[in-house]
Amino acid sequence: MKLVGTQARSQAILVITILILAIASNASARKYNLDNGGQTIEYSATSCRGHSASLTDFGGVGDGNTSNTKAFQTAIANLSRYAEDGGALLYVPPGKWLTGSFNLTSHFTLFLEKDAVLLASENVSEWAVIEPLPSYGRGRDNTGGRFISLIFGTNLTDVIITGANGTLDGQGQIWWDKFKNEQLNYTRPYLIEIMYSKNIQISNITLVNSPSWNIHPVYCSNVIVQGVTIIAPVTSPNTDGINPDSCLNTRIEDCYIVSGDDCIAVKSGWDQYGIAFGMPTKRLVIRRLTCISPFSAMIALGSEMSGGIQDVRAEDLHAINTESAVRIKTAVGRGAYVKDIYVKRVTMETMKYVFWISGAYGQHPDDKFDPKAIPVVKNINYRDMTAKNVTMSAKLEGISGDPFTGICISNVTITLAEEPKKLQWNCTEISGISSSVTPQPCELLKNQAEAVCNFPTGSLPIDNVELKKCSYKRSYL
Ligand SMILES: *[C@@H]1O[C@H](CO)[C@@H](O)[C@H](O)[C@H]1NC(C)=O
Ligand SMILES: *[C@@H]1O[C@H](CO)[C@@H](O)[C@H](O)[C@H]1NC(C)=O
Ligand SMILES: *[C@@H]1O[C@H](CO)[C@@H](O)[C@H](O)[C@H]1NC(C)=O
Ligand SMILES: *[C@@H]1O[C@H](CO)[C@@H](O)[C@H](O)[C@H]1NC(C)=O
Ligand SMILES: *[C@@H]1O[C@H](CO)[C@@H](O)[C@H](O)[C@H]1NC(C)=O
Ligand SMILES: *[C@@H]1O[C@H](CO)[C@@H](O)[C@H](O)[C@H]1NC(C)=O
Ligand SMILES: *[C@@H]1O[C@H](CO)[C@@H](O)[C@H](O)[C@H]1NC(C)=O
Ligand SMILES: *[C@@H]1O[C@H](CO)[C@@H](O)[C@H](O)[C@H]1NC(C)=O
Ligand SMILES: *[C@@H]1O[C@H](CO)[C@@H](O)[C@H](O)[C@H]1NC(C)=O
Ligand SMILES: *[C@@H]1O[C@H](CO)[C@@H](O)[C@H](O)[C@H]1NC(C)=O
Ligand SMILES: *[C@@H]1O[C@H](CO)[C@@H](O)[C@H](O)[C@H]1NC(C)=O
Repeated sequence: MKLVGTQARSQAILVITILILAIASNASARKYNLDNGGQTIEYSATSCRGHSASLTDFGGVGDGNTSNTKAFQTAIANLSRYAEDGGALLYVPPGKWLTGSFNLTSHFTLFLEKDAVLLASENVSEWAVIEPLPSYGRGRDNTGGRFISLIFGTNLTDVIITGANGTLDGQGQIWWDKFKNEQLNYTRPYLIEIMYSKNIQISNITLVNSPSWNIHPVYCSNVIVQGVTIIAPVTSPNTDGINPDSCLNTRIEDCYIVSGDDCIAVKSGWDQYGIAFGMPTKRLVIRRLTCISPFSAMIALGSEMSGGIQDVRAEDLHAINTESAVRIKTAVGRGAYVKDIYVKRVTMETMKYVFWISGAYGQHPDDKFDPKAIPVVKNINYRDMTAKNVTMSAKLEGISGDPFTGICISNVTITLAEEPKKLQWNCTEISGISSSVTPQPCELLKNQAEAVCNFPTGSLPIDNVELKKCSYKRSYL
């Protein structure tokens, strides 16, 4: 009896103690939450959101093995109901989230927390095949359709992919191997593709090992890509970094890219398909880019440029161990134009070429391209550049009977590698001017002392788009 009484009392004390502890810790957790202490996440975005949810609310499991394809798809379908009611944010917590492709919705933010990694499914039969782009007429790797991108969106407005430097991991090795062994019937997927959309922000995330291109906005306007890190093996096939394609008003800044193809490739469709579609890439700003790409360009204009490329302003660029800097690639059959290109303040170390313009790039979607579709290349301006350890200063090659004109190069100092090419400037079918350039340029670039190549002083509409301070309050469970 006595014994039982003592037992009951000590049990009661234990229960009360546990209750007090539970209430205390709960209260401190709540207080912590209300405090801003680590529970409120702040980020910068073109629009903040009125609603939010976590992937785990929809059954997501971040164990690197469970498929989250359904969780992403249901989460985004669910949150799309807030499109007209302040929009919504989907929070992806730390963890490894294996997933197949999913589609974005309008007025939506995907937020990747630090140490959140989206692992792209390695199961090829899980990837839907979609139609080729009308401006290409076929997939880039193969004729016919193409595998949908990991993150895909079409006909949207106001879409943000951001975070605290969370990661998209394309697990590209299996795709690179299959591509090299010609075991794929369709064009490889990209990590992010957004089509026919406006007001897009992609910022503060890392993309690694994409199966092919990394970020592909196509037929879009008002696109901001900021603070993005892209890393792929320098020998991986076609792992282009950021490819603005038939886009109007784009701003790419503060990005770090190491890749197996061009760090940035500006495009606008391919031969007769791109000419018929007729949508240029226009008003593009690129600034504060660091690029490592030993077998490709820091910025390529083309080779698919059949809708035209106009008004590109690139500044404060840094290339390391890269094949060439701001390269133009085109060919007979492309048609259209590359014009009003402005580049300034570029530093380079270990370059095969500093300047490279190619009028005979080749590669056609099929043999129905129009041999009379001759591209116009004009008003191309480069200034204030230094390059060290360079093999060849310039290879500037226009098209016979279609010279590339208005090429201006000023204030450029190139230091050569130990075993440089004997001919430093090889110029054919081009014309323009140069000023204060060493080593001495070719005669087709007439020396005009004191000339300063043009760079527009006014701003573009996309320069004036400001990011707001937004915050997301995590629920503490
Ligand atoms: C991984 O997922 C598969 C399929 O869902 C399952 O059969 C397997 O047991 C899981 N492996 C581990 C280590 O969890
Ligand atoms: C999804 O939306 C419905 C309303 O349509 C809501 O009742 C439900 O709780 C949501 N699902 C989740 C997992 O949040
Ligand atoms: C995503 O959108 C594309 C194009 O509209 C469509 O083919 C595909 O089925 C969609 N995927 C999902 C999972 O809804
Ligand atoms: C790959 O995906 C397909 C289609 O969803 C499925 O039937 C198959 O079981 C998956 N294979 C593996 C190895 O998970
Ligand atoms: C998306 O927009 C394009 C261009 O306006 C249009 O041709 C296409 O039909 C639209 N697609 C969808 C799924 O609404
Ligand atoms: C983001 O992560 C990448 C890969 O880990 C890293 O290289 C980069 O420095 C990080 N960026 C920031 C701003 O922390
Ligand atoms: C590719 O297409 C060929 C011919 O239609 C077919 O035999 C083959 O199984 C396909 N390969 C894959 C990986 O789907
Ligand atoms: C995003 O990256 C920029 C640099 O591009 C940095 O200034 C900013 O603090 C970062 N924001 C967050 C929320 O990590
Ligand atoms: C100079 O470039 C060569 C390749 O052309 C490279 O092997 C070497 O390491 C570079 N030297 C320096 C100091 O970067
Ligand atoms: C020449 O370019 C360098 C950067 O490479 C810059 O610091 C310098 O001010 C420029 N000189 C003139 C006269 O613009
Ligand atoms: C210079 O370029 C032209 C046109 O591409 C080419 O035919 C020629 O062989 C080049 N000359 C040298 C010395 O490399």
